[in-house]
Amino acid sequence: MSADQSSPSLSGEQFVASLNEENRTALERLGRLSSAGKTPHELTVERLLRVALKNELEASEIAAIWMTTTSELDVKLAFARQCGDEAKHFRLIAQRLKTLRVDPDRIDPREGGYSALFEYLRQLQSTAARVAAGQLTREGIALVRNQCFIEFCEARGDHETAALYRDEIQPDEQHHHELGRRLLTRYAVAENEQQVARQAARHTLELAEEIQEMARLKAGISRAPGC
Ligand SMILES: [Fe+2]
Ligand SMILES: [Fe+2]
Repeated sequence: MSADQSSPSLSGEQFVASLNEENRTALERLGRLSSAGKTPHELTVERLLRVALKNELEASEIAAIWMTTTSELDVKLAFARQCGDEAKHFRLIAQRLKTLRVDPDRIDPREGGYSALFEYLRQLQSTAARVAAGQLTREGIALVRNQCFIEFCEARGDHETAALYRDEIQPDEQHHHELGRRLLTRYAVAENEQQVARQAARHTLELAEEIQEMARLKAGISRAPGC
């Protein structure tokens, strides 16, 4: 880890620009991993939508946990909005599964436990770290993974699921990511806050890449959408 990028002379804006740049490189790699290799025939849109339910639930729940323990009013309300949006995504995906003749009431996305990313995010205490990891970075990851999923849906001829992601879910994820950028500019001003924010963003990307690699190796579900 280079200390030079966390120089105390960075303003909030400079810090966020540098973190975004660092994220961009990692996200490009994640995008390549997500769309790498052939997809097995048994990998279906339905199967990936089940994974999506889990991701949406976790994103909603993290935002809810953080909302109650964040004192900055604008950040608290940003988490509230995110919590509601991710729950809405859950509902839209459940409806789509129903149309695809999968009964969503028979799916409990908590089965198998919460992900390592969820466990990592939930214990973050610093507002700057939460915004950097949970909004700026995680939502950046979601944008990349959802785009891979949209392409997968189109390739399989499922234009409705592709449209749901492109027209309804992605604009919300983009908004969460932008909120993260704005709030981080405001709250990652002190050097120590910038350091914990950068570390949290890095670890979030590492966990996402690990999850991606495990998904590819174990079940061929690397096209799964984010949150
Ligand atoms: Fe989101
Ligand atoms: Fe979402």
